Amino acid sequence: MRHLINITDLSIEEIDELIAVAEDIIAHPEKYQEACKHKILATLFFEPSTRTRLSFEAAMQRMGGSVLGFSAANSSSAAKGETVSDTISTVCRYADIIAMRHPKEGAPYAASRTATVPIINAGDGGHNHPTQTLTDLLTIHRERGNLENFTIGFCGDLKFGRTVHSLVSALARYTGIKFVFISPEELKLPKYLIDNTLKANNLPYTETTSLEEAMPELDFLYMTRVQRERFFNEADYVRLKDTYILSPEKLVTAKPTMAILHPLPRVNEITVDVDSDPRARYFDQVENGKFIRMALILKLLGITV
Ligand code: NCD
Repeated sequence: MRHLINITDLSIEEIDELIAVAEDIIAHPEKYQEACKHKILATLFFEPSTRTRLSFEAAMQRMGGSVLGFSAANSSSAAKGETVSDTISTVCRYADIIAMRHPKEGAPYAASRTATVPIINAGDGGHNHPTQTLTDLLTIHRERGNLENFTIGFCGDLKFGRTVHSLVSALARYTGIKFVFISPEELKLPKYLIDNTLKANNLPYTETTSLEEAMPELDFLYMTRVQRERFFNEADYVRLKDTYILSPEKLVTAKPTMAILHPLPRVNEITVDVDSDPRARYFDQVENGKFIRMALILKLLGITV
């Protein structure tokens, strides 16, 4: 039995396979419409979500399976003091696979230790978000035809942004990728990623506070929202929340082929008039999330089509 807790739980070859299956699903959706018949996915969301939870549910339903679960901790027995471990032991008696989001870093890992069905980490605190990374990798792959030789800028809250942490860990394993980290001093990429992932592998990266300076060299710009819920005080959030606002004017110096990504939700860091720019890819990214989650569910359930 396999779980997906960190993106590095999957080898590069397995990620390639998932991308290939997702591409096949996109080309031939009818082949997959009964693939998960009689299978049940549980979505246990102890934290808010729109895309991740609904894309998992859509993924399962598009393959003929069904879903159950909860979308807030206060509607589950967590509100009565039940441990994650007991919740998981219970849900394993009902479902064939579990996607779980939790505000505590490491909670899905803890769950995987007692689970008798595959656990998918759908986001754990400010730590990791491996299925968003699969979504991002599929989007980049669809854009370029491979996952090599490009410059990607990560902009915004790189400290608490779990999608950034997982995507950096994933991209560190591919060749020819240059990383540009654009953030305020207080929201820089965590030191453990700089030291253990980038420096340890001699990967080229720069850190800057200036989006304008970084813009011309980027092939991808990965915007993120400032993660209000992870701040220790509201004053710091208010001070930092408007640091980067991507608008059509700021895109003037960008490559005409640059793709703008964002895991969403957006607050105000991309103005809505950017949505009609042909470089905006964030709503395509949303749809890719459903396809790659279909591929992931099939893999973890051991179903081949
Ligand atoms: C992200 C998350 O939950 O970390 N959203 C998502 O799953 N697409 C990004 C965010 O909340 O800012």
